[in-house]
Parts: sequence; C-alpha cells; structure tokens
Amino acid sequence: MARKTKKVTVVGSGLVGAACAYSMINQSICDEIMMVDRTYDRAVAQALDLSHCMDFTSSRTKVYAGRLEDCRDVDVVILTAGANPKPGQTRLDLLEEADKITRGIVRQIMDSGFDGVFVVAANPVDAVTYIVREESDLPRERVIGTGTSLDSARLKTLLSDVFSIDPRSVNGYALGEHGESQFVAWSHVTIGGKPLLQILDQHKERFQHVDLQEIEQKTKDAGWEIFTRKGNTQFGIGNAIAYIVRSILNDDHKIIAISAILEGEYQQSNVCTGVPAIIGEGGIQEVIELNLSLEERQKFEQSCGILRKALEKLAD
Ligand code: 2OP
Repeated sequence: MARKTKKVTVVGSGLVGAACAYSMINQSICDEIMMVDRTYDRAVAQALDLSHCMDFTSSRTKVYAGRLEDCRDVDVVILTAGANPKPGQTRLDLLEEADKITRGIVRQIMDSGFDGVFVVAANPVDAVTYIVREESDLPRERVIGTGTSLDSARLKTLLSDVFSIDPRSVNGYALGEHGESQFVAWSHVTIGGKPLLQILDQHKERFQHVDLQEIEQKTKDAGWEIFTRKGNTQFGIGNAIAYIVRSILNDDHKIIAISAILEGEYQQSNVCTGVPAIIGEGGIQEVIELNLSLEERQKFEQSCGILRKALEKLAD
C-alpha cells in the first residue's frame, strides 16, 4: 500500500519562507511543498526557483504555488507571513499588525478543512502562536511556535566557540519569550553531559574569562546583530522550522525548545512561551518541565507576565 504523501504549506514566500522550503528540499523532509503568498506571483517564482534545485540533490520534493483555500489535505502549515520590525522596534511591537495578518490567514486555512499541525515562525512568535491556537481552535498539541529553538541553537554555537566543542555536544536551552525577556537556564546546560556550572567551578583558572551574562546577552542579541546588517534573518530560522517539521513528519520525538501554550506546566496556564517539548506525529507529545533554579523560575514567570500583558493589551 502506497504511504500517505507528506504535504507542507509555507504561508509567506519571502526570505524566511523560501529558506525553510530550501532546507526541507535539501533534507528531503516531505513529498510536496505548496508555496503561498499574498502576491501570488511571488509564490510562483519561489516555487519555480526551488523546483530547479532538484536535479542537484537526492530530493524528489514537488514544489508548487497555491492558495490558502488549498490546505485541506496538508499535514503541516508553516506560518512565516508577518511584519518586519523597524529600527528600534522589538518583536513584541509588531503584535498589533501581526494579529490582523494572522487571524485572516488562519480563518481561510481552517475554512479549507485543514486538520493538521501549525508551525508558526512569524514574530512576535509566542504571541502569534497563541493567536493561531485561539483562531484555529485546534488543540494546543497541534499549534507549535519556533519559540526559543533558534535562540538555543545560537547559545550552543556561542558555547561551542568558547569551549572549542561541536555545538551538538552542547545541550541546553534559552527559555521564555523569543525576545527581550528570554533567559538561559544555565542550571541545565551541559557539555558532553557534564553540567557547565560544574565545569566552570572545577576549572576556575582555566575558564576565568568565561562570562555567562555576556553569552546570554549575545544569544539574545544575535538576531539583531544580523537584522541591523542585512535587514532580516533567514537561514537560522529556516533550519529551525525544518527541524521541527521533520520531527513532526518523521515522528522523531526530538526535544526542541518551541513555543507551546502552557496548560499548568511551570505553574503557568493560558500563555504561550518557549519551553522544551517532545515533538512527534501530531505535534507536541509532551512539554518537558525542567527543575529550574529559583532565579530561573522568577525569570520564567516574568517572561510569561510580559507575554500575557502584551496579549491583554491587544484585547483592550
Ligand atoms: C530571529 O531571531 C527571525 O526572530 C527571528 O532570527
């Protein structure tokens, strides 16, 4: 019996949408990618350009342009369509505009009969993910934001430079808002399975130059470092999206720091923020509750408060 065709829709055929589609093609993550954009011609152009990759890869991904109403039998809808911050703005400053864009898109997708998983990348991603769940009325398991997956990757890249270790041998998370109130759960960062704080304590002399606050700030500022120079980011977020989609379609059960709507985890409900979760078929299998330190719990609560307040302000 032929296996079910794995279909993914990318809503927003701009730089991020094209980057995640390009990653999914090169990693042969799905069988079909439908590019959607409010400017249909841009979706056509991206689909054509992406389809010309095939001859140079082992991929057989069918790429084409489509419309929101064509999402009925799609497994995953990736939402990248949104606003871009102007200089001096934070991601949360985009919320009002993002709210309007998102609700209209989600309504049209749900009217198509879509019954799959949303992966949200549009900023401010935690609040937009919350809005997608509210507007789609899907269970929280099937509405996932990219959250602090990219921030955690940036953290691991920074630590890999400091310790001259492959980033994949570093484990740890940035948590909370994908934005100004994110923080690093240092109590859970390990290198080769050994707690980082223990390494620093046992080798004070050797690692006296290591400044965790500076690394945390660089993690938070990494997006802006790129944005201020080229006006956007695309490849890191593109791969983060592809990584999440692959874990869903292959039922990988990877643990990824995504935006999830909390239902009591970390003593929080009715808020969406970056937490580690097991990602498999159907979306979130389980939110992982880390045993945070007192200081980390306070930062987490503060970040949730900022996100809740932003959404309440929107509702006013
Ligand atoms: C970033 O930090 C796009 O917000 C995303 O690169």
